[in-house]
Amino acid sequence: MYYPWWYVPGLTAPMLIAIIAVVHVFVSHYAVGGGILIALENQFAVKTGDKLYRDYWYKHARFFVLLTVAFGAITGVGIWWTIALASPLATEMLIRTFVFGWAIEWVFFIIEITAAFLMYYFWTRLPEKTHLVIAWIYALAAWISLVLITGITAFMLDSRGLFAHWSETGNFWHAFFNIQFLPQTVIRTGAAILLASLYVFLHAAWSFRNVNITANSTADITKEDSVNSELFHKIVRRMSRPLIFGIVTVLLGVIWWFALLSPNVLLVMERSVLLNILLTLFFGLCGLMTFLIIVGPILNPRSINVGFALCLFIFGLTALASAEFIREAVRKPWIVDQVVLGNQIYAGEIAERQKNGFLRESYWQQLPTEKVQLGGMVFMYHCNNCHATNHGLSAVGPLLYGESKEKIAETIKNLNQPAISMPPWCGTDEELDALAEFLMTVRPAK
Ligand code: HEC
Repeated sequence: MYYPWWYVPGLTAPMLIAIIAVVHVFVSHYAVGGGILIALENQFAVKTGDKLYRDYWYKHARFFVLLTVAFGAITGVGIWWTIALASPLATEMLIRTFVFGWAIEWVFFIIEITAAFLMYYFWTRLPEKTHLVIAWIYALAAWISLVLITGITAFMLDSRGLFAHWSETGNFWHAFFNIQFLPQTVIRTGAAILLASLYVFLHAAWSFRNVNITANSTADITKEDSVNSELFHKIVRRMSRPLIFGIVTVLLGVIWWFALLSPNVLLVMERSVLLNILLTLFFGLCGLMTFLIIVGPILNPRSINVGFALCLFIFGLTALASAEFIREAVRKPWIVDQVVLGNQIYAGEIAERQKNGFLRESYWQQLPTEKVQLGGMVFMYHCNNCHATNHGLSAVGPLLYGESKEKIAETIKNLNQPAISMPPWCGTDEELDALAEFLMTVRPAK
């Protein structure tokens, strides 16, 4: 094989990627949406001369820059680390195809980080108008980096080109402008704004948690309280709009995404109970959030507190996580659609591997002479990207409960039928026998 394998016990390596990626998405979307909100609301504060409102955004920017720059950068690198270990061939393929894209992304990332620091540290020192320009530079650079990354991640899940087929041209732009690029850009932009508004709700509710916001101008309320209470309600009222905008944009984008899905992917989704549950959860949470925003921030802005903001925040994160999970899961058996398979080989290699053997002696390893060990190695390359061994996620042992060696060999031989989420069996009869032998050691007997 080209690279060594990586086994993460129980969890499986791709699930580790999924966890880090989802945590990263929670922060990276805020980095984009928050930038847009900071620029928009600053512009509004400058235009209306509302110094207090602008001061709140200064306070918010501190939290924003700390979280997005530190945490976003760490989890972003975490993704590279895990994908390179779990799917080295796919990572190599993406680097080769998109090297120009990463370069552009890097340039925008530098602009983004520089603008973020300038925006925060010079908030009170620069003239308001100049400061606003920097805030808009940040927002634009962050959004462009979202667009760039979306082209690449969408390609992994659907390599059909919008203008021409990448597989026929090998052209960077044909890969970048893939069929799913536009709807996913719309979904991510909506999600960024939605998520950022939820962060602002939570941050504002926490910052003003000690303010007496329920009493109106009665005697026991201090002047400071009433000023703060006004400010808090202004933030709540203003943030309801991007929240609704975000939800509507995400839903429109999702409908567009559905309309462009290939029949194969639709089939994978329909066959999977888990994906159906997640899809229901996603739409249910979008509906619930819309309802809560209407009865809360829009109709009763004074009823908002930390608990309410936290609930909305958790619902938003859960909806986003389920959408990401579905988006990633439907690509099986591919890691990169139509290019790299889940068993760590290129699509064009299947026939040759079936004839000459799936495993090859390589720089990395010598093939073991012992049968079960050889079978274990076949498992690590051919199955480990989707199945744990005897315990854990989609563990193959329990899936083969009580089966005979002959039956197991039969299942492996027809790996991609009737199942459609698995690659075809890509080895020789000898490798098949070794794998069946290994699987007998992990499957529970009757
Ligand atoms: C790309 C991901 C992927 C790879 C690689 C993969 N599987 Fe699967 N496997 C799945 C999925 C998803 C299912 C669920 C069935 C479905 O709906 O397609 C599954 C189901 C199974 C089942 C239970 C279903 C049945 O038909 O009885 C067994 C057994 C199994 N896989 C064994 C293996 C073995 C052995 C390998 C390696 C030779 C392997 N899988 C490689 C994704 C994969």
